[in-house]
Amino acid sequence: MRWPSGFVALLLLTIIILSYTLQRVEFKFKIYGNFRNHLEAAWAATGNGVSSSVRPTKDGTLYHLEMEWSKKEKEIKNILQELDQLMPNVTFRDIKTVTSAKNSQATIVNRQDAYCVGDHLAVRLDLYDHVGKRKEHGGDFLQARIYSLNLEAGASGLVQDHGNGTYLVDFTLFWEGNVSVSLLLIHPSEAVSALWRARKKGYDKIGFTGKFLNGTSAVNTECGFKLNRSLELCAYLDERDQEAFYCVKSKNVPCEAFVSLKSYNTPISYLTALERTLLTRSNVGVQIPHVLGDIRVVSCKSELNKPASEKCTFGVNVPFPSGFVWQNQWHPLSCDLRAFDTVDHLTTCLKGKLVYLLGDSTGRQWIESLTRRVHTLRYLDSHGAGKHKNLIAVDLAQNIQIQWRKHHHPLVTGHEYLVTDHSYIAQEIDKVAGDEATAVIIAIGQHFRPFPLELFLRRALNVRSAIRRLLLRSPGTKVVLKGENVRELDVDQERFSDFHGYAQYLAVKEIFQDLNVVFIDAWDMTVAYGTNNVHPPDHVVWNEIKMFLNSIC
Ligand SMILES: *[C@@H]1O[C@H](CO)[C@@H](O)[C@H](O)[C@H]1NC(C)=O
Ligand SMILES: *[C@@H]1O[C@H](CO)[C@@H](O)[C@H](O)[C@H]1NC(C)=O
Ligand SMILES: *[C@@H]1O[C@H](CO)[C@@H](O)[C@H](O)[C@H]1NC(C)=O
Ligand SMILES: *[C@@H]1O[C@H](CO)[C@@H](O)[C@H](O)[C@H]1NC(C)=O
Ligand SMILES: *[C@@H]1O[C@H](CO)[C@@H](O)[C@H](O)[C@H]1NC(C)=O
Repeated sequence: MRWPSGFVALLLLTIIILSYTLQRVEFKFKIYGNFRNHLEAAWAATGNGVSSSVRPTKDGTLYHLEMEWSKKEKEIKNILQELDQLMPNVTFRDIKTVTSAKNSQATIVNRQDAYCVGDHLAVRLDLYDHVGKRKEHGGDFLQARIYSLNLEAGASGLVQDHGNGTYLVDFTLFWEGNVSVSLLLIHPSEAVSALWRARKKGYDKIGFTGKFLNGTSAVNTECGFKLNRSLELCAYLDERDQEAFYCVKSKNVPCEAFVSLKSYNTPISYLTALERTLLTRSNVGVQIPHVLGDIRVVSCKSELNKPASEKCTFGVNVPFPSGFVWQNQWHPLSCDLRAFDTVDHLTTCLKGKLVYLLGDSTGRQWIESLTRRVHTLRYLDSHGAGKHKNLIAVDLAQNIQIQWRKHHHPLVTGHEYLVTDHSYIAQEIDKVAGDEATAVIIAIGQHFRPFPLELFLRRALNVRSAIRRLLLRSPGTKVVLKGENVRELDVDQERFSDFHGYAQYLAVKEIFQDLNVVFIDAWDMTVAYGTNNVHPPDHVVWNEIKMFLNSIC
C-alpha cells in the first residue's frame, strides 16, 4: 500500500514539530534545573569562597547565560577581595589598645596667617590608643569636614591613610571667610574590623514576615534570603539575574498567594560584647580635639575665577571632594548650577519628560520635593497602601510624568508593603523603552547595609547590565545614579553603620566607572552639609535634584 506523498510530507512535518517541541520543553526544564544548581552553588560559594564552575551545554543561549553568571560571580569575588585589602583586620582583647579620639592629635602641616581661596589646607592626624600609646596601624574610619557656620558653607576633606597611625587630611579652601575644621573618628579601626567581619556572617540580622492569603484570611510566615532548607519553602527566583527570596510554605496555602512583607531586627549579633561597647553612641563619631583655631581664607587678587564649563557633567570618576556648600547651596566643581528657582524654569525643564525614580525612600524624596514645588504635578491614585506604595505624579498640560517605585527585596521596614506591584530594578529598567526625554534615576544602598555585601554587589551588577541594555536600545536616555548618603550616628551600628554604606559607596564607584551615567555624589554632599539623616532635609535633596535638572536641561 502506498501512502499519498502529501500525507507522508505532513506526517514528517508533524514528527519534526513534535520532536522540536519536546526538545524545547526539555530545554526549558534544563535552564531551570541548571539555574537552581547554579544558584545553590553561588550561595554555597558565598559561604566558603569556592566559586561555581561553568557547565557548558550545546545550546548557545544557555552557555551565554552561564558565562554571564560566572563572570558576575568572579567580579563579585574580586570586588570583595579588593575591599578586604582596604579594611583593617585586627583583633583586640582590651579596650585600652583601641584608637581613642580624645587622645589623638591634629596639626596643620602648612600653617599660614591667611590662605587664598583655592589653596589647600593639610592637616596631619596622629592617632593614639586609650592609654596614650601611638597607633601603629591604620584602618580607622574618619570623617573630615570644613565649615563656616555664618556662611552656611561646608566641604568634605580627603583622608589619606598612611597605614601607621598617621593620616593626612587634605581640604580645599573653596570660599572666603573664617573656616573651622571638624575631624570625627566615626569608628576606630578595631570597630571597623569587627563590623566588616560581622557583616559577612549572616543574612539573619533582619527577619521578614510575609503575609499570604488563605481564602480571605491572612497567614503569616517567615521569609528571607536564606531559610532553613529542611522546611518546605516557596522560592521567588529571578532566573536570569540570580536573585532569590524565600518564604516558609504554609500547608495548603499556595506560594502565589504571597501578598505583602515587613521586616524586623532580629536579636542576632555577630559581635562580641567587647566589640559592641565600641559601637555605643558615645564611642561613635567622636571629635578629635584640636586647637587649629579659625583658618583665615581671603580672596587673592591673582586668583582668577575659573570660567565655569557650559554644560554640567557629573560622572562617577569626578575627584573628591566634588563640590562644596556655600550659602546653603551646592556648588559642584565642574560647572555653575542653574538654580531652577522659579516654577516656570522648572516646568520648562520638565516639560515632556518621563522620569522614573527606582529605589529607596531617598529617591521618593525627589518626587515629594518636586510635587511640592510644581503644583500642577498631581499624584494619581496608584492604589496599594501604606508608606511604601508606588507613586505616580503627572502634569497633563505639560506632559510631565514622574514615577517612584521601590526597589525589591530587601526593604528593611516595619511598615507592611505589597510585594506584588514592583520588581527588581533591573527588571524595571528592562521595561523602559527610553528616548531623549526619558530619565531613569536609581537610588539603592541603605536597605542593603545589614546584609552580606555580595547581595548588594550582585544587585548593582544586575542594574549595570540593565543600564547597558537600555543604553544599547536607547542611547539618548538619561541614566542617573543617586549615591548613598550618610545617616544618623545613633542607629544600630552593626546593621546600619555608615561604614557599611561607605563600602557600598566604594563598590558603586568601581562598578559604574565605565558607564555613561550621571552620578550624584550624595555621600560627599551630605558630609559637606553636615546632615546625619537617612532622609536628608529638603534643601539638600533639592540640591541633588538641581544637579539632575542641570544634566537633563
Ligand atoms: C584576618 O586575620 C585572621 C587571623 O590572622 C585570618 O585568619 C583571616 O583570614 C584574616 N581575614 C582577612 C579577610 O584577611
Ligand atoms: C607614617 O608614614 C608616613 C608616610 O610614609 C610618614 O610620613 C610618617 O612619618 C609615618 N609616621 C610615623 C609615626 O612613623
Ligand atoms: C575672622 O576672624 C577674625 C579673628 O577672629 C576676625 O577679625 C574677622 O573679622 C573674621 N572674618 C570674618 C569674615 O568673619
Ligand atoms: C486555610 O484555610 C482553611 C479553610 O478555612 C483552613 O482549614 C486552614 O487551616 C487554613 N490554613 C492555614 C495555614 O491557616
Ligand atoms: C531546620 O528545621 C528542622 C525541622 O524543623 C529542625 O530540626 C532544625 O533544627 C532546623 N535547623 C536550623 C539550623 O534551624
